[in-house]
Amino acid sequence: MLELKDVSFTIRKDGEDVPLVDQVSIVIPRGHFMAIVGPSGCGKTTLLKTIAGLNPESAGALFWDSRNLSEEGDFLPSEIGYVPQFSIAYDPLTVDESVEAATRLRVCCRSTEALDHRIDQVLEETGLTSISDRQVRVLSGGQKRRLGLAMELVSDPKLLLCDEVTSGLDPRSEREIVHLLHDLSRKDGRMVLSVTHSLAHLELYDSILVMYEGRVAFHGPPDQMTHYFSVVDTEEIYPRLTTQSAEAWHHSWQKHRGFYQDMIEKNRLRLIESGKLRIPSVQVVAEDRAETLAAQDATELPGFFSQFSTLLGRRWRIFFRDRGQVFLQLAIIVCFPILVTLFSDKASGNIRRYSDSPQSDFVAEIQEQQSVRSDQAKVGSAVSGIIMFQVVLLSLMGSNNSAREIAGERPIYEKEKFGGLRPSAYLASKMTFLACLVIAQSLWMAFFVNFFGTFRGDFIEHAAFLLLINASMTAICLAISSLMRTAEQASLLSIYLVGFQLPLSGAVLALPEHIEAFTRPFISAYWAWSGSVDALQPQVHNAVKSVIDTALSAQNFCFYVLGAHIAVALVAAWVGVRRPQWD
Ligand SMILES: Nc1ncnc2c1ncn2[C@@H]1O[C@H](COP(=O)(O)OP(=O)(O)O)[C@@H](O)[C@H]1O
Ligand SMILES: [Mg+2]
Repeated sequence: MLELKDVSFTIRKDGEDVPLVDQVSIVIPRGHFMAIVGPSGCGKTTLLKTIAGLNPESAGALFWDSRNLSEEGDFLPSEIGYVPQFSIAYDPLTVDESVEAATRLRVCCRSTEALDHRIDQVLEETGLTSISDRQVRVLSGGQKRRLGLAMELVSDPKLLLCDEVTSGLDPRSEREIVHLLHDLSRKDGRMVLSVTHSLAHLELYDSILVMYEGRVAFHGPPDQMTHYFSVVDTEEIYPRLTTQSAEAWHHSWQKHRGFYQDMIEKNRLRLIESGKLRIPSVQVVAEDRAETLAAQDATELPGFFSQFSTLLGRRWRIFFRDRGQVFLQLAIIVCFPILVTLFSDKASGNIRRYSDSPQSDFVAEIQEQQSVRSDQAKVGSAVSGIIMFQVVLLSLMGSNNSAREIAGERPIYEKEKFGGLRPSAYLASKMTFLACLVIAQSLWMAFFVNFFGTFRGDFIEHAAFLLLINASMTAICLAISSLMRTAEQASLLSIYLVGFQLPLSGAVLALPEHIEAFTRPFISAYWAWSGSVDALQPQVHNAVKSVIDTALSAQNFCFYVLGAHIAVALVAAWVGVRRPQWD
């Protein structure tokens, strides 16, 4: 049984408390199919999220089988299924793959057979078996809703919360989905609460909760609604609601509550007697819960490595399915180093020494010095420029790697986290996937450019700095991605960040010293460039020094700073993925 006692959810707006859900008291028995209806903006979604524990109630209490949810711990991830309004599946995956990933992330199956059995059962139950190999992108609206349900049913939740799963569907699909939800509530005492804006098919529900401006206006059997609201047709209920204040509806409801609650109970007993509703006995329910708890303590939720490998496998699959993304990645990996080699000629020029050809007279000596200096300047600026170019291109690749990585799939991730996914497994899978891209991009850049114009210094050290700059920008943009609200914001911020690297690095223009002291620590490009310059042979190193106004830093220090950038970014990404961010 689910019981809400005077549950309110209040937000602070302009210094005032605004209740979005106000003193809601309802009792919902096991095996119950309830609709939550009401005009748009009346607080249906907010109520559902409060029940799910996504909105902590500001007042009142929720009880689940007489357990106080706020005091004795919230629902276990396997006890509750929440199907939000938005799609929760990845377009490039098939129905089967989506359900499989959901199962692997949420349920600990003893064997592959058990896993397959579970998946088949859920597909069967939701009528998706015949289209299990179809990609999510080609599914119709109704099929997508079924998939959303299937992905929640994998853990066999006893409470299923659905938010507008029928909105936007054609009448036939809508009817099918309502029937499906109805059937799901007839088994094993599963409770199904469905938020809907539509007033069609209400007769299939056991009870209807009518909300108005955050208050309960009615909760009773569907056939009693027209009588209660003194209307002829259910369609007239919404206009009728506006004829008096929410406060007034609330008060008149207080008077009739008990009567309609009894009616719900009587209907329920009738259904049980006629065998249309199967409810497990109280004892079975208690045993069930003890079993779930015991299993949970052991390994009901899949472990870190299991979740990690499921996510990583799925990430690679999505990557390779998206041909555009693969092509873009390959084009970037191949073309960027080619761009750099176009400039490699000048960097390989010879730098003569003064002593190479001793001069006899004074004028020739001066001319010689000038010519050597001019050589030095040419080679120095070409070498410095090429290093900076590589650094900037790898920064750009870094931001392209990760700016959308988390922000672009946030609703899906939040949903999976709610279902028991560990943020640590999620972040680890992202880091591993991105590390592969980073290694391929930076090493290929280092080797390719080196092949056409050998790096005049310690190649390994140079390659290490290229790797570090790419890793650091990837990590920083991953952090941005985890902290921003939308993928667009994250992309924009990441691009600005890369754009500012070049002018603020000091490699092209020297900044005023007092500004430089503040900006430098944060400019990854400077540290990678400076470290690589330090890895050059002394002669080339001097040539570079002769053309720049900026002070260079010792190589070890550059390593540490870049390492610190990566570490701080990963900590920020960790904070970002742990923080709940719905909507
Ligand atoms: N986190 C929030 N902060 C401010 N206002 C909110 C928040 N969540 C919902 N609202 C507002 O509360 C009201 C109820 O929202 P919602 O529960 O989504 O309505 P429904 O699902 O019934 O259409 C709306 O006016 C909405 O704008
Ligand atoms: Mg809503």
